[in-house]
Amino acid sequence: GIPKFVKIVEVGPRDGLQNEKNIVPTSVKVELIRRLVSSGLPVVEATSFVSPKWVPQLADAKDVMKAVCDIEDARLPVLTPNVKGFEAAVAAGAKEVAIFASASESFSKSNINCSIEESLARYRAVCLAAKEHSVPVRGYVSCVVGCPVEGAIPPSKVAYVAKELYCMGCFEISLGDTIGVGTPGTVIPMLEAVMAVVPAEKLAVHFHDTYGQSLPNILISLQMGISTVDSSVAGLGGCPYAKGASGNVATEDVVYMLNGLGVKTNVDLAKLMLAGEFISNHLGRQSGSKTAVALCRV
Ligand code: HMG
Ligand code: MG
Repeated sequence: GIPKFVKIVEVGPRDGLQNEKNIVPTSVKVELIRRLVSSGLPVVEATSFVSPKWVPQLADAKDVMKAVCDIEDARLPVLTPNVKGFEAAVAAGAKEVAIFASASESFSKSNINCSIEESLARYRAVCLAAKEHSVPVRGYVSCVVGCPVEGAIPPSKVAYVAKELYCMGCFEISLGDTIGVGTPGTVIPMLEAVMAVVPAEKLAVHFHDTYGQSLPNILISLQMGISTVDSSVAGLGGCPYAKGASGNVATEDVVYMLNGLGVKTNVDLAKLMLAGEFISNHLGRQSGSKTAVALCRV
């Protein structure tokens, strides 16, 4: 059976806005985060403490965090690629962080400029610092089924990186199909390999919707016992270092499907749609959520 409750991790303000051509003003980011939290989402990834040369879109991380760190109704994790980012995040008021490794050597190099092993060493240092501050750390694995350079990625490689992140202390491991090439045909064997080394209740799935496969992939993940799903309001997103990758699966579409399945999320779809409308209006384009587009016509 599928879980009775699914925890949705909203990644729009981070994974979404990191990929926008035009830099979104800090005040708009802050308002978006507030609206997402008030829709009932339990976790809203707020921003990244990464190099502003690599991701200029999130160069205002400190200001965003300072403006939202008083919010108590949701957890607001931020991405930290190294101890420098971790320290800056904590100084700005972050209470939870995420580290991001890859199952592909090529993607690791293009995304964080180091090998997989080097990244794991860096992340052990972040986990150690986080433990001292009692800050929970989430771990991401990117390119879990495919890489823009290397093509198919073996499930054993994903399982290896996921286990390393789990063993260094991550409370949850999010498995990212960064370029959105997976189908249930490739996602099932990948999940089987990972679930042999990390318990299903510690896993999350993170699908990009490049080929429109996110919802079937989420459904089979739920059937396999996973109950945490990453998504992005209005389907915002992509990855600056994965050319052609489209946004994350839209949060509205995930909530619509889960409502249909009778699975609880605690998210108010109408309020969530207002948050999606707010950011789509700001960006001057139609929402990437099919649910949002359909319900607007009703
Ligand atoms: P590097 O150039 O190798 O780093 O970048 P460095 O240590 O040589 O430092 C270079 C400069 O960056 C220095 O400044 C550092 O101080 C500065 P300079 O002396 O030249 O003025 N720097 C920093 N500044 C602010 N915050 C920091 C920081 N660290 C160094 N934390 C680095 C290495 C990891 C920093 C860089 O490659 C980087 O920031 N990468 C982040 C890329 C990124 O954010 N990608 C998108 C997120 S991952 C993703 O989207 C996938 C995911 O969604 C899951 C999925 O879909 O699969 C999570
Ligand atoms: Mg992503």
